[in-house]
Amino acid sequence: MQEVIIQGGRPLAGKVSISGAKNAGLPALAASLLTDDFVTIHRMPDLKDIRFMGSLLEDLGCEFSFQDGTACVRALAIGGNPSYERVQQMRASICLLGPLIARLKRVNMPPPGGCVLGQRPIDLHLHGLTALGCEIFIQNGLICASANQLKGATVSMGGVFGSTVTGTINVICAATLANGTTIIENAAREPEVADLCRMLVKMGAKIDGIGESTLTIDGVEQLHGASHELIPDRIEFGTFLLLALAGRGKLELTKMDAALCGAIIDALAESGAEFEEIGNFFIVHGERSNLRPMHLETLPFPGLPTDLQAPLCTLFTQICGESSMLENIYPDRFTHVGELRRMGADIVMDGRRAVIRGATHLSGAPVMIPDLRAGACLYSAALLARGESILRGIHHVDRGYEIFDEKLRKIGAVLQRREIMQKDGCEKI
Ligand code: EPZ
Repeated sequence: MQEVIIQGGRPLAGKVSISGAKNAGLPALAASLLTDDFVTIHRMPDLKDIRFMGSLLEDLGCEFSFQDGTACVRALAIGGNPSYERVQQMRASICLLGPLIARLKRVNMPPPGGCVLGQRPIDLHLHGLTALGCEIFIQNGLICASANQLKGATVSMGGVFGSTVTGTINVICAATLANGTTIIENAAREPEVADLCRMLVKMGAKIDGIGESTLTIDGVEQLHGASHELIPDRIEFGTFLLLALAGRGKLELTKMDAALCGAIIDALAESGAEFEEIGNFFIVHGERSNLRPMHLETLPFPGLPTDLQAPLCTLFTQICGESSMLENIYPDRFTHVGELRRMGADIVMDGRRAVIRGATHLSGAPVMIPDLRAGACLYSAALLARGESILRGIHHVDRGYEIFDEKLRKIGAVLQRREIMQKDGCEKI
């Protein structure tokens, strides 16, 4: 187990290169099961979750290689079922369900566990696949799914707040090899869904309406191999953008297609953030942005992404006045609030809304990271705080931010990792 020690309060400025999107790479790897040809995926970020998905594919008999940002998969002779122990470790394992049904006609796999974000239902996944003619029942804690021949259908993927991202992905994958035409209504519009569709089209799939909430998919006999480059990671981009504003530094980020960012850029600009685009860089002028309080809420794309909610809370602690953040997607996604308070943040919870008063001088403290995006929030808070912070649970951050420590050092952060000394079988306090 490791911890990271951060000396806060240093000015942060410089260039950050944005990696390929984790949440585009994971479904792309799973979708490689749809063909027995080679699938090559470029700009693949070197993350724990990516390597874990690769190992799940190898468990199923796939060839998997990953080097220098390029992953290569060949699902030639595949079989078996993903195991309970493995699937429980990563929610995104659910992305295997649709491709495996389409390819093997039968799969028994455990539903992925919940996580600190709260319940992670899969009812819409199962609803969509059942509409395509899949027979599904739950037995002995397993999703038992079979379909001799998937058939096209009209499916709605809508949930309470928009649509499920991985649920949409599962139905798209299954529909590409179904007999006939599938119309997916209330499809998730997250850019990672569109990116997957573009890769599937390169593999021979017939998909119309990419990026829209209604997709039309004409099933084909089989798909072939392809080479694809992932979109950049909009959540990593947003995380560094928010850090620049909170730390009042100038950061030059790899240019991002504004259409990938959704509402976050407009909301920040409206509050007084200053941005510039020069050549291949998107420049965040934190040094001259005086932000006004914001009252935001998370929504499905193109609304404010829930994955930036925690990093936004850190920014709100640095804005004079009262800001608020309403979490619509995952009601329990406030595991970072307690730790931020311990660093001095003034946060009052009102149901699913965090009311944050600033500007606060945060102070360094030992904190425990509970999940991936809370980790980004607490890293940022430690970088802003006066004094030293010791962050544990950093394995969560390694799941979703490629060489995070190295990228932070390059812009002036003073941090180091060390092994946690074990004493008498328990962590040394
Ligand atoms: C994707 O998760 C992302 N993960 C998440 O990012 C992201 O937070 C989430 O979408 C929302 O944008 C990947 O793409 C791998 P959902 P996903 O199914 O698809 C409800 C990160 O930090 N729902 O869209 O698993 C559910 O309760 C991760 O990178 C149902 O009701 O999320 C929730 O309110 C965390 N029934 C909402 O939809 C279902 O069958 C979003 O869940 C499925 C979902």
